[in-house]
Amino acid sequence: MPDVFDILRADHREIEQMLTVLGGDTTQASPDGPMRPETRKKLAEKLTIESAKHEAAEEEYFWPTVRDRLPDGDRLADHAVDQETAAKQALARLDRLSPDDAEFDELLSEYIPAAREHISYEEGTVWPALQVQLTAAEAEELGKNIASAKKIAPTRPHPRTPPDPNLLKAAGPAVAAADKVRDALAGRGEN
Ligand SMILES: [Fe+2]
Ligand SMILES: [Fe+2]
Repeated sequence: MPDVFDILRADHREIEQMLTVLGGDTTQASPDGPMRPETRKKLAEKLTIESAKHEAAEEEYFWPTVRDRLPDGDRLADHAVDQETAAKQALARLDRLSPDDAEFDELLSEYIPAAREHISYEEGTVWPALQVQLTAAEAEELGKNIASAKKIAPTRPHPRTPPDPNLLKAAGPAVAAADKVRDALAGRGEN
């Protein structure tokens, strides 16, 4: 059974692939020609949706475990949640921009290295410390909770919602349902 690290790692690799494509030189002709602005917008939407679900699940289950199980868990979690809050603000702004706006590329060029740094902070600093604290059964259980939380997580960044685990667990499904209605109306997240 996959454990928490397998599940989060799969998300990280998927997010990194999107960052690589979005960070690529758009003027350079690939075999398919330069990426069309609408394709970049769709990819940015997919990145936003996947990141929103991933970070919500981490905030509900992963960071509370880090706080609970590691002696310096609060410090580690606070730093990560600060990075996640900054990312949500950037993605919420990106969501409102057209790929033709100059700010779209400016924002992406700031967001991409920050997102990579956040992933490497989690995997390089936090995971090794937590891996030695959790039993295999606990790591699997946490993975199960994260996978379930992602299924009912918001699909839009909500930078003004405090990243409080209990609040997210209580309000998350209703917020997620409202997000999905807005997604459907906007054709967001569809290929
Ligand atoms: Fe995160
Ligand atoms: Fe993560």
